[in-house]
Amino acid sequence: MEMPIYLDHNATTPVDRRVLEEMLPYFCEVYGNAASIDHLHGNKAKQAVDEARQAIAKVLGCRKESEIVFTSGATESNNLALIGAYRKFRNKGNHIISSAIEHPAVLDTLNYMQNEGAEITLLPVDSEGVVNLEALEKAIKKETILISVMFANNEIGTIQPIKEIGALAKSKGVLFHTDAAQAVGHEKINVYDMNIDLLSFSSHKFYGPKGVGGLFVRSYSPLIKLSPISFGGGHEKGMRSGTLNVPGIVGMAEALSLANRELKDEYCRLREAVNLIYQQLQKSFPDIKLNGHPQNRLAHNLSLTIPGVEAKALIHLLKNKLSFSAGSACSTVKVAPSHVLKAIGLSDDESFQTIRLGLGRSTEEAAGIADVLVDGIGQFKNISA
Ligand SMILES: Cc1ncc(COP(=O)(O)O)c(C=O)c1O
Repeated sequence: MEMPIYLDHNATTPVDRRVLEEMLPYFCEVYGNAASIDHLHGNKAKQAVDEARQAIAKVLGCRKESEIVFTSGATESNNLALIGAYRKFRNKGNHIISSAIEHPAVLDTLNYMQNEGAEITLLPVDSEGVVNLEALEKAIKKETILISVMFANNEIGTIQPIKEIGALAKSKGVLFHTDAAQAVGHEKINVYDMNIDLLSFSSHKFYGPKGVGGLFVRSYSPLIKLSPISFGGGHEKGMRSGTLNVPGIVGMAEALSLANRELKDEYCRLREAVNLIYQQLQKSFPDIKLNGHPQNRLAHNLSLTIPGVEAKALIHLLKNKLSFSAGSACSTVKVAPSHVLKAIGLSDDESFQTIRLGLGRSTEEAAGIADVLVDGIGQFKNISA
């Protein structure tokens, strides 16, 4: 059976074959432990890790490669950023500000941290999913030690005013963390220009392997050291113990370098494809609503509410032709309406009538994809008419 067209690139992306090629020698040939630097096997692995760290630091605009801490993905990076900063700086205050539309890897971590005495303020967002800067400023108090606002939302694609949030945090002497899992490899990012102190990313969101990611930890103005959240050999400057995943790290660096090189062309191509699909759907069904910010959004993401059409039923109907998700792929185990769609003002019914298309490198024939969707949606609309 021919596989359906994959339209869930916000959930994950395939490993680019060029990335796989770079990774292969690090399984069976260069297999040393990057921490075993007394011999050549370990040295070779360490050299590969050093080069990967340099490449990633360069793309993200770091001052030093040592500002990149390798982790198992954005979930772990978020846990380390939030819990690690809280435990390190709680003598200065216990208040953390975040937003209502964060990924569960942030929200659930913050929820847990309340057991350790953290006070959490979750800011609402407007109907396009944007955090209000005045509300953010008002929420800052003398106990505030950290602001954590995601770069781009995984469901609706809205991009936050990151540079402005960072500037505000800086002016108040508060640290700024951003979960950039959806943005790294897709948006131009410079951590210093954007006033970012801590930034989480995950390799499989930009055509690298799964199970590897990183956290940028600023080392200059201010120099930040986080408390570890797991304990062991003291790797990664004592912030994240554990033997490094050398093939994964090599693959992530290659994936990010490639994504960065191709970013502009891919951005334009996918934005055009997304617009075409949206316009074709709108032409046939004018009541379809785009969720998220109309301009400040991820180029490859399209979140649509289709009145009268259950997302799950549409996905099922089209499952042999298209693979896409309802709301957030990360919470498909839950049947509750999406907290993100709720936060931008959608009713429970509207939330269940929302689909998310995530286009990517393999996406071609946007018009053909739109035709399949128009046909599928039409079948439900005809029944309800
Ligand atoms: C915004 C955001 N943060 C964090 C994560 C978690 O990433 P990972 O599963 O790679 O740890 C995801 C994954 O969907 C995400 O979209």
